[in-house]
Amino acid sequence: MSIVIKTEAEIAAMRLAGRLASEVLDFIGPHVKPGVTTGHLDALCHDYMVNQQKTVPAPLNYAPPGYRPFPKSVCTSVNHQVCHGIPGDKVLKNGDVVNIDVTVIKDGFHGDTSRMFFIGESSIAARRLCQVTYECMWLGIDQVRPGAMLGDIGQVIQRHAESSGFSIVREFCGHGIGRRFHEEPQVLHYGRAGTGEPLVAGMIFTIEPMVNAGRREVRELADGWTIVTKDHSLSAQWEHTVLVTETGHEVLTTSAGAPVRPVLQTVAA
Ligand code: MF3
Ligand code: CO
Ligand code: CO
Repeated sequence: MSIVIKTEAEIAAMRLAGRLASEVLDFIGPHVKPGVTTGHLDALCHDYMVNQQKTVPAPLNYAPPGYRPFPKSVCTSVNHQVCHGIPGDKVLKNGDVVNIDVTVIKDGFHGDTSRMFFIGESSIAARRLCQVTYECMWLGIDQVRPGAMLGDIGQVIQRHAESSGFSIVREFCGHGIGRRFHEEPQVLHYGRAGTGEPLVAGMIFTIEPMVNAGRREVRELADGWTIVTKDHSLSAQWEHTVLVTETGHEVLTTSAGAPVRPVLQTVAA
């Protein structure tokens, strides 16, 4: 399977799916607070997607080769959980950070986005990790234009994370997206500028760096999905779905409540 170049009609459908995915995060934000369980957040998101938006939660029963079906409608990854956390009985407490990753299907097309949320007052260290990870995502997005290479994205993300004293998770990456949840290409969050596939207008893929406060190594829990840092250090992730346009890029997973991009881009020397 090769990289799909989307038609104007497909791009229009992806714009809608992207906005709806972002609106699920807008909706859930006010509910993310101390005392709530991740399972309750999942149930609220599921109801909003299915009954308000009439979208399909893509994670529910998603089972790529070698995986058991994912049992919930969103992913919730708390503190040292890197990604693919399964919502359940875990009660969020003051100082926690949680990534909520939403993927909706609308009219057959996928929109995929995630944000970090602070529970009450989080530590300066946790807030800095989330801020740097957000900057990493946007530094990657700013590379996207026809003729740029996938490695250009990876390099700026890796450089910013590592020069901030953090590490980049290697086992998971961004991905093409469209009628399928995970398409080509793989979008690595590390690498060298000028390497990899050249970007072409009409490509759509995600950029979703996972950044650890400690070492980059991860392991999978016995549930078959949840990924955690081996050293139990804090991990953060942000995700957008991005279209390559003739002149640059368009972020598809945006909505009225989406956080603004960083104003002053912190670029590593
Ligand atoms: N949304 C994740 C991504 O960004 C994938 C989650 S797969 C699931 O690619 F099954 F865990 F939902
Ligand atoms: Co994704
Ligand atoms: Co996602």
